[in-house]
Amino acid sequence: MALEMVGVVGLGTMGAGIAEVFARAGLRVIGVEADADSLARGRRHLEGSTQRAVDRGKLSGEERAAVLGRITLTTSRDDLGEADLVIEAIPEIMALKKALFADLDRICKPAAVLATNTSSLSVTELAASTGRPQNVVGLHFFNPAPVMRLVEVVHTVVTDPALVPELAELARRLGKTPVTVGDRAGFVVNRLLLPYLNHAVNLLDQGVATRDAIDQAMRAGAGLPMGPFALLDLIGLDTSYEIMGVLFDETRSARHAPAPVLRELVAAGLLGRKSGRGFHGEEPPPSEPDKSTVRTFAAQGPGAEELAARLVEVGFKESSDDPDVVLHLGDRPVVEHAVRLARPERLVGVHLVGGKVAELAATALTSTEALLAAKDLVKVLKLIPVPCRDRAGFVVDALLLPYLNDAVRMHESGYASIDDIDTAMKLGCGYPAGPFETIEALGLEAMRDGLRALYAEYRDPAFAPAPLLDQLVTAGVRAFPR
Ligand SMILES: NC(=O)c1ccc[n+]([C@@H]2O[C@H](COP(=O)([O-])OP(=O)(O)OC[C@H]3O[C@@H](n4cnc5c(N)ncnc54)[C@H](O)[C@@H]3O)[C@@H](O)[C@H]2O)c1
Repeated sequence: MALEMVGVVGLGTMGAGIAEVFARAGLRVIGVEADADSLARGRRHLEGSTQRAVDRGKLSGEERAAVLGRITLTTSRDDLGEADLVIEAIPEIMALKKALFADLDRICKPAAVLATNTSSLSVTELAASTGRPQNVVGLHFFNPAPVMRLVEVVHTVVTDPALVPELAELARRLGKTPVTVGDRAGFVVNRLLLPYLNHAVNLLDQGVATRDAIDQAMRAGAGLPMGPFALLDLIGLDTSYEIMGVLFDETRSARHAPAPVLRELVAAGLLGRKSGRGFHGEEPPPSEPDKSTVRTFAAQGPGAEELAARLVEVGFKESSDDPDVVLHLGDRPVVEHAVRLARPERLVGVHLVGGKVAELAATALTSTEALLAAKDLVKVLKLIPVPCRDRAGFVVDALLLPYLNDAVRMHESGYASIDDIDTAMKLGCGYPAGPFETIEALGLEAMRDGLRALYAEYRDPAFAPAPLLDQLVTAGVRAFPR
């Protein structure tokens, strides 16, 4: 593929960034917008973004001028006749994209490659709307395109196989890391990320924990850069809802059914940051937290002695007769332990996660006082309390393990390699570790057992351990064969 001139159609959030990426790699770019106003907005976006790169010392003033000089802006698609590669980044609407592709097929020279930046639509369907399906691919950049290092290079069953390594090489020339995959809804990143976010919405809806408790648990407990609700607000609830719909249409799996709360919030116009309010925004006034008067406690379960020693050290009294609160440590629901006590309302489950978070499981019998007492105790130990219901997996495991299981199933299905999935999730989401690295750190057996507990509770087939995971545990293997 000769590559000197690149066309970018649609200079919105993604397209302007993509145009900048190509121009910064020394290529000539023709940017096409729908009308003069949008073109002016695209130009401002490009000027602003490159100026910020100068301010941050990533680009010199002369380089910026050269980058902008390589970009020609127009409102006429017909100017794309000489382009070797055209990437579309217009809105995520199939009919619009199909019409554009049919038109590009007419305008562009026969050898030109047509690429889409779609997040979730079928690349195959777009390819079929042209007379050159062998030259149609997905090049999925991440937001903001100049910063995020991942590009998913998507080929269809009819893409010319020789094109794929060339496009991966092109991505490297742009300073990006390519991950090459076939055409399945959501590719790697959205296919793994969105169902996890959707699951968080369902846990909230089921009252397992509050929005802030879940966000905090996933940040501090699972080490993610953002909680699921903060991330949903950033992506946009409408976009998230639509992507879930596309995933569901392809898989018909309950795991991919868009959460009803998403539909409700989108219909109410609460779209996230872009509309000023989604899950976050318009905060209720902070209420004065109740203070507990906890003095005595009992601790039981694995790790109880160590926890008790730490609490005694800071001045609380261990008591076996009539403690204010009974802390039951473990990673499974605790109501069965509560009912064995004379005062079951005093038992609170405690699950320590990542050394920073204490999930505090309140059973159907737990009193408000006991929960408050447990919160006070763990705060004194500098742990972040995450109150939740007494459900399998509590918050972190309930959200994390099915996501990891999805990754194992994705690999098992032959869609992507372990390394590609890990790379995609780290570079596409800014996660500190890829799912397979996380699984190996957790332990394959612990993950399998955690999933079994989740499956036994929720009876959701998506929580049944992936056969590959099960077999590796049975074989006594601690790492995935790479
Ligand atoms: N926003 C993200 O985080 C993100 C990330 C990855 C991929 N994507 C995908 O990228 C694509 C674009 O998303 P976006 O967020 O940049 O959207 P956007 O709404 O910010 O930008 C779309 C741009 O396309 C222009 N446009 C519309 N019709 C046009 C036409 N016929 N010809 C030329 N320009 C036209 C609009 O004026 C607008 O500037 C979508 O397919 C989306 O799924 C988005």
